[in-house]
Amino acid sequence: MHVAVLSGSVYGTADLVADEAADRCREAGLGVSRIKPANVDGLLEANPDAILVCVSTTGMGELPDSFMPFFIGLQDRFPLFTGKPFAVVALGDSAYGDTFCQGGEQLRELLLELQAHEALPMLRLDASETVSPELDAAPWFDQFIAVIQC
Ligand SMILES: Cc1cc2nc3c(=O)[nH]c(=O)nc-3n(C[C@H](O)[C@H](O)[C@H](O)COP(=O)(O)O)c2cc1C
Repeated sequence: MHVAVLSGSVYGTADLVADEAADRCREAGLGVSRIKPANVDGLLEANPDAILVCVSTTGMGELPDSFMPFFIGLQDRFPLFTGKPFAVVALGDSAYGDTFCQGGEQLRELLLELQAHEALPMLRLDASETVSPELDAAPWFDQFIAVIQC
């Protein structure tokens, strides 16, 4: 079982969460491609069995600028991931109201359009609620690892 772990971040938090996820996957005996920066060629070359993406929200519900080439690349090239398990960790701040975790939502919708299969409901990490999102995400990572190995 081989997992691709990608991230999109402005200030580095989503990268940190993704690094932690990659470590936990490795500790569980999974093969891991930590694709950083996120890019379509790297993802396709890795040809993973499952995809995990940690992405924050910026602006008014937008994806990080550094993540846009990946997102637009997926939209343009439209590689089908039919049936491939994926999960998204969305970082945001509930103080932003309606745009809370919209970046993660956008990515989730695109992966569903690409026919990937959502292995686990999206995890929302709220900057208003936690100072250690990578630790808070640990039980969700364990669930993700268990689900994709079934
Ligand atoms: C300028 C700015 C705009 C933001 N806009 C949103 C937003 O629209 N929705 C949201 O949920 N969070 C928003 N956030 C909160 C970030 O997504 C949150 O702090 C996140 O943990 C940052 O992760 P990062 O370090 O990986 O970029 C915003 C933060 C900043 C600084």
